[in-house]
Amino acid sequence: MQREKKEKQQKKLNSNTETALKGKSILLGITGSVAAYKALDLIRRLKDEGASVKVIMTESACRFITPLSVELASGQSVYFDMFKSPLSHINLPVEADMLVVAPATANSISKYACGIADNLLSTAAIAFSGTPDRIIFAPAMNWRMYENHVFQKNLHALIQIGARFIGPEKGSLACGEEGTGRMAGIDRIIESIKTSLSKHDLAGEHVLVTAGPTREHIDPVRYISNRSSGKMGYAIAKIAKRRGAEVTLISGPVSLRPPDDVTVINVGTAAQMLSAVMDNIHMSSIFVMSAAVADFMPQETKRDKIEKKESFALQLIKTKDILGQVGRLKKRPFTTGFAAETGPGLDRAKKKLLDKNIDVIIFNNVTGVGAGFDVDTNEVVIIYRDGAGTIKEKPLPLMHKEDVAEAIFDTIKDLGYKQF
Ligand SMILES: Cc1cc2nc3c(=O)[nH]c(=O)nc-3n(C[C@H](O)[C@H](O)[C@H](O)COP(=O)(O)O)c2cc1C
Repeated sequence: MQREKKEKQQKKLNSNTETALKGKSILLGITGSVAAYKALDLIRRLKDEGASVKVIMTESACRFITPLSVELASGQSVYFDMFKSPLSHINLPVEADMLVVAPATANSISKYACGIADNLLSTAAIAFSGTPDRIIFAPAMNWRMYENHVFQKNLHALIQIGARFIGPEKGSLACGEEGTGRMAGIDRIIESIKTSLSKHDLAGEHVLVTAGPTREHIDPVRYISNRSSGKMGYAIAKIAKRRGAEVTLISGPVSLRPPDDVTVINVGTAAQMLSAVMDNIHMSSIFVMSAAVADFMPQETKRDKIEKKESFALQLIKTKDILGQVGRLKKRPFTTGFAAETGPGLDRAKKKLLDKNIDVIIFNNVTGVGAGFDVDTNEVVIIYRDGAGTIKEKPLPLMHKEDVAEAIFDTIKDLGYKQF
C-alpha cells in the first residue's frame, strides 16, 4: 500500500517535470576555470530534469574540482584520459545528443576553433558529429582574456559555423576585477541546451504574448489587481522562443526574469497593455493573451493618498476588453485567450471563444491542486474550433507550465494556423 502510494506520487511528480531534457544524453566538458565548481550544480539540475550526463574533465579542471565530486554528482564514471579509456573519444560523442562545455576556458575554445585534438575533450569535440548548434560553450575567464583579439577571432569563427555560446556575463570576477567574463547562470545554460534540442517549427513566426496582472490605481499608493505570477505567460514566451519564433512579451508587473532574446514591453495598467498590444499586433502572426487583466478600474484615480477612514465606497468601471478588440480587427493574428475560472466553467470558456471571435481558448480552473497562480504546474483544457467550425476540447493532465505551453503551440500548429 505504502509502495503503491509512493509510486503514484512519483508518477505525478514525473509528469510535473518539464519534458524537454527527459531521456537526453548530454556530454559535458569541464575545463580549467575557477568556475568549474558551478558545473556540479549544472549536472544536478540536468539530472533532475531527466537527462543523463557523462562528463569529460580536462587535466586543468581536475586542479579545481575533484573527479570524485563530479562522479558523485553525475552518478557515472568521469573520463579524463583518452589512453586509459580507449575509444572513449569516439564513443562518448557518438552516444551524446549534445556537447556542452561549461565552464569553457579560452584555451579549450581556441583549440576547438583551430581543430586541435590533444586531450580527451578536444578530441571528442572534433569527433562529435551533431550539427554545430548541438555544441554549446559557456565561456568563463578574466575580461582581459575574453577581450583578447586572438580569442575573439576564434570565438567569431565558431559563431560563424553555428556553434552556440551562452554568456559570459558582466560582474565581479574571481580575480577581484569587474568585467565581462563570468560564466552564464545555470538557468541560462539549461535554457540554451533546451533551445538546441527543441524543434524549431515556429521559425519565421512573430509571437506576441501578454503575461502577468495589470494594476489599476486608486491613488498614488493603492491599486486593485488580479492574482497572477506571470509564470504561464513567461513559459509561453520561453517556449515560443525555444521553438524558433521572434517573441514580443508584454508584461504586467511580475518578479520573473524574462527569457533571453525576447523583446519585453513592461506595462502597468490595462489601458497601457491594450495600447502595447495594438502597437504590436499587426506584425504578429500568433497572439497569446495570457495576462490576467484587471476587469475593473476605479472610475477616478485620486491625485493624493486617500485618508484612512472607517469605510468608503469605490466606484469601479470596466477596463477595455483587449481580447475583444483584437477579435474585432479586420486582420488579426491567430489568437489564443485564457479563461481562468474558479470551478467548472467549460461552457463559459466556450462562450468566450465565440463571443471574442478568437481561435483557441485555454480553460484553466485556477482552484485545482497544482494549477493556477504562483505554481510551476497547471491543468488546463485546450478548446478550439476545428476546420468545420465545431468546438473541440483537449483536456491535458497536470503538467509543468512549459509543457502546457508546448501543447498550446502543438495545437496551434495542428490547426494550420494562419493570419485572419
Ligand atoms: C587559478 C587559475 C584560474 C584560472 N581561471 C581560468 C578561467 O576562468 N578561464 C580560463 O580561460 N582560464 C583560466 N585559467 C587558465 C587555464 O586553467 C589554463 O589556460 C589551462 O591551460 C586551461 O586548460 P584546459 O582548457 O585544458 O582546461 C586559470 C588558471 C589558474 C591557475
